[in-house]
Amino acid sequence: MPEQKINKIVFATHNAHKLSEIREIVKGQIEILGLTDIGCHDEIEETGNTLEENALLKAKYVKERYGYDCFADDTGLEVDALGGEPGVYSSRYAGPSGDPEENMKKLLSALQGIDNRSAQFRAIIALILNEEEHLFEGVIRGTIARERRGGSGFGYDPIFVPEGYDQTFAEVDLSVKNRVSHRALAMAKLIDFLLNGKKILSLGR
Ligand code: IMP
Repeated sequence: MPEQKINKIVFATHNAHKLSEIREIVKGQIEILGLTDIGCHDEIEETGNTLEENALLKAKYVKERYGYDCFADDTGLEVDALGGEPGVYSSRYAGPSGDPEENMKKLLSALQGIDNRSAQFRAIIALILNEEEHLFEGVIRGTIARERRGGSGFGYDPIFVPEGYDQTFAEVDLSVKNRVSHRALAMAKLIDFLLNGKKILSLGR
């Protein structure tokens, strides 16, 4: 558990959406600094072969170069009928440009004629605190729709239908997504650890 109360920690991301999401959750309890706030403008390359490796390498990059305790996340969409693909390669599934429309197009054609549409989003958060590494996982199960639906969200949201819902992540209210998503679940475990020292809910669902 954290040895002393944490007042401030770095989230190794340039993504303003992710920063405001977590700042809203920990408001008044922990100050969250983004990469820009610590003067880091680098695009940290994700060269790992797993989500865990990528999350850790981003957190280590910041710790080693900037000296801050830090956490970083990495997410993959894992489709059962495709043996867990695109997984760690989700952002560049259809090519290096990372175009979400092309990624969805490729995934829908890979699943053409396949009835098993089961999939999950899996997020890993790696935390480096007091020289120790901790991993937190968030998983949301669901299915891949047969066509795109909805205009909100990002990435694969228009084709992912979370379990228990009929609408895609791009159709549901953002407050619903922020409550049930892979990232929200992993963040909840991280925050519980940072605030209460509890790690009962780390890796695993
Ligand atoms: P990242 O590690 O959070 O950057 O996520 C890697 C890729 O997974 C993104 O480029 C998206 O394609 C996809 N992804 C991650 N989170 C979500 C989400 O909440 N909705 C839809 N796609 C997502």
